[in-house]
Amino acid sequence: MTFHIALPRTMKIGAGAVRELGDVIAEIGARRPLIVTDPFMQKSGTADIALQALHENGFEAAVFAETVPDPTTDSLAAGLAAVRQHDADVLVGLGGGSSIDTAKALGFLSKRGGPMRQYKAPRRNTGPSLPVVAVPTTAGSGSEATQFSIISDSETNEKMLCAGPAFLPVAAVVDYELTLSMPARLSADTGIDALTHAIEAYVSRKANPFSDGFALAAISAIGGNLREVYKNGSNRDAREAMMLAATQAGIAFSNSSVALVHGMSRPLGAHFHIAHGLANAMLFPTVTEFSIAGAETRYADCARALGAAGPQDDDEAAAKALVAELHALNSDLGVPTPQSHGISAGDWHRLLPLMAQQALASGSPDNNPVVPDAAEIEKLYAKIYA
Ligand SMILES: NC(=O)c1ccc[n+]([C@@H]2O[C@H](COP(=O)([O-])OP(=O)(O)OC[C@H]3O[C@@H](n4cnc5c(N)ncnc54)[C@H](O)[C@@H]3O)[C@@H](O)[C@H]2O)c1
Ligand SMILES: [Fe+2]
Repeated sequence: MTFHIALPRTMKIGAGAVRELGDVIAEIGARRPLIVTDPFMQKSGTADIALQALHENGFEAAVFAETVPDPTTDSLAAGLAAVRQHDADVLVGLGGGSSIDTAKALGFLSKRGGPMRQYKAPRRNTGPSLPVVAVPTTAGSGSEATQFSIISDSETNEKMLCAGPAFLPVAAVVDYELTLSMPARLSADTGIDALTHAIEAYVSRKANPFSDGFALAAISAIGGNLREVYKNGSNRDAREAMMLAATQAGIAFSNSSVALVHGMSRPLGAHFHIAHGLANAMLFPTVTEFSIAGAETRYADCARALGAAGPQDDDEAAAKALVAELHALNSDLGVPTPQSHGISAGDWHRLLPLMAQQALASGSPDNNPVVPDAAEIEKLYAKIYA
């Protein structure tokens, strides 16, 4: 049995790492970096810090600051024009998962062309793309270390998973100081996303000894620090621990997989514009309860790493404690239900068959310890509504 492991070839990790961005670009041998980011990063001055680091090394750098949360195929057109106009030879994805995923999609499409739809899962995309250096500003998506880009199809509203080494950043600059500005809600949502990545990577049918180590390390750090960054966002130690955990969780799921929570949360993002981590959080306890029968020991390990159970608990008790802890976490982090989030029962139930079909089509549910059919997915959606 062999495992295929893929990682960025360089990572700079720690306070102030963004100021060393120029060294990273120099290592790649590129000359014309384009920073791909969003309007908030430009207004807050973060894009300027990155730009200055590039200018100091003598690079011809430019900024494209029009990325949007949960990027769509329509939103890529302006970015492709900017890549061509600057004649960029490397893209710096600066921001949350949305900016990094946009940079990955632009780097890929500018070499390959064609509608993004043709590259969605289950296709595994290899071959040339412009190199991407990822600089995360949320401790969540882990996109800085993953071989995925998630782009919504503007025509069908489908949140497409696009996968393969063509989407893996060549380098990552992981500077937790960039996350200090996150408000409480964003800290919670992105932190739960990272926790979901780690637990799903560990219980996945694609889990392996390499991904397991990263997953457990991330689960343990998130258990000790997620509530703290929500309550006290200026706690630098907690921010540092969450940032590293998010990258480790990204490495874990990129080399294993995500599973049913992610499969079901993407349609929630696409149809109801619920933030990705929040959508995961709404599903996490119920989907975990549904899945335990397929991997009780693995869920028990997660419970112990998270601090929800101890060595004295047997697997059955520990796995149960995990579900209870996920409910408690949602309550402590102010996670609403779809109903209290303002989604009407009519809209919710009308879209269930389509959402179930899209969840299955993504392939993620096939990696779940218990593989559901469409009817079971609809039932799970119905259960979490109120
Ligand atoms: N490619 C992958 O492997 C992968 C993994 C998980 C999630 N995703 C995708 O990533 C997206 C979600 O990314 P995200 O959760 O990081 O958020 P995001 O990139 O969508 O950003 C959300 C908002 O937070 C703001 N923001 C970002 N950093 C901030 C900071 N430091 N301070 C204040 N505000 C800040 C942004 O400006 C934006 O308005 C989703 O589309 C999701 O599907 C991708
Ligand atoms: Fe995610």
